[in-house]
Amino acid sequence: MATSLSVVPVHDADEHHTAGVGADAVSLTGVRRSFGTSVAVDRMDLHVRPGELYALLGPNGAGKTTTLRMIAGLLRPDTGTIRIFGIDALADPIAAKRITAWLPDEPMLYDKLTPLEYLELVAGLWRVPQAHAERQAAELIDILDLGPHRHQRCEGFSRGMKQKVALAGALIHDPKLIMLDEPLTGIDAAIARQVKELLTARVRAGATIILTTHILEVAERLADRIGIVHRGRLAVEGTLAELKDAAGRGSSTLEDVFLALTHESAVADPALEPAA
Ligand SMILES: Nc1ncnc2c1ncn2[C@@H]1O[C@H](COP(=O)(O)OP(=O)(O)O)[C@@H](O)[C@H]1O
Ligand SMILES: [Mg+2]
Repeated sequence: MATSLSVVPVHDADEHHTAGVGADAVSLTGVRRSFGTSVAVDRMDLHVRPGELYALLGPNGAGKTTTLRMIAGLLRPDTGTIRIFGIDALADPIAAKRITAWLPDEPMLYDKLTPLEYLELVAGLWRVPQAHAERQAAELIDILDLGPHRHQRCEGFSRGMKQKVALAGALIHDPKLIMLDEPLTGIDAAIARQVKELLTARVRAGATIILTTHILEVAERLADRIGIVHRGRLAVEGTLAELKDAAGRGSSTLEDVFLALTHESAVADPALEPAA
């Protein structure tokens, strides 16, 4: 890598591998995905540890959603391997999907259903035992403050409200791996706080979370580790402190790191061609 911001050498996939594939919650090796002639994700190596909240941060078009959709089994990579808690997600997608949750950036609900009806429907699809589903639904409705709206149809809800209902649906089957695409984008501060509380509670309970964001503050406030995606590659990763340290030269915020990286690699690394 030509960029001078070599935080954790993210392309040292071999080193990770000898440490034990089974130790990762999620492990991507050499993953690539193109659309026509445009490469959206290229040589992506990503290793997320069990119980961490990992943020994929990057500008629009960097390849975050494509990466997450491949992990969620909604899109096949052209090449590369994806393991979820040791399961080969490409060879055994159903087993992988059984332990994962996926929240797309645009919530998809049934407008005519109320939040409670939606949660019943989703719990049924996942075959969650009824008593457990009811307990889970009550808890999710409580923590997300959906109580006053639980009998109202979703059609009139704001985007943030819909996002909360979709999130509750995604979590009703107790997934080990939770993937959220831009979960806090376009939702107000009060709702964002509830969503953050729910996510940190899930991590405390043992879940692993990967979220994408183009908002620095979200990554900064929530994540145990941050991976910066730039032009389809994981450019650097580390804790906030590690990223700041490595950026050096007076970089005190993640924004400095981010700008330093995207600027320097655009100028100094001719190998990094724009994906589009
Ligand atoms: N279904 C698709 N068809 C064609 N191009 C796509 C598709 N999905 C993503 N892309 C392209 O892949 C690149 C990465 O997109 P995406 O993963 O959505 O980035 P991000 O989520 O970081 O904003 C972009 O150039 C985007 O236009
Ligand atoms: Mg996206």
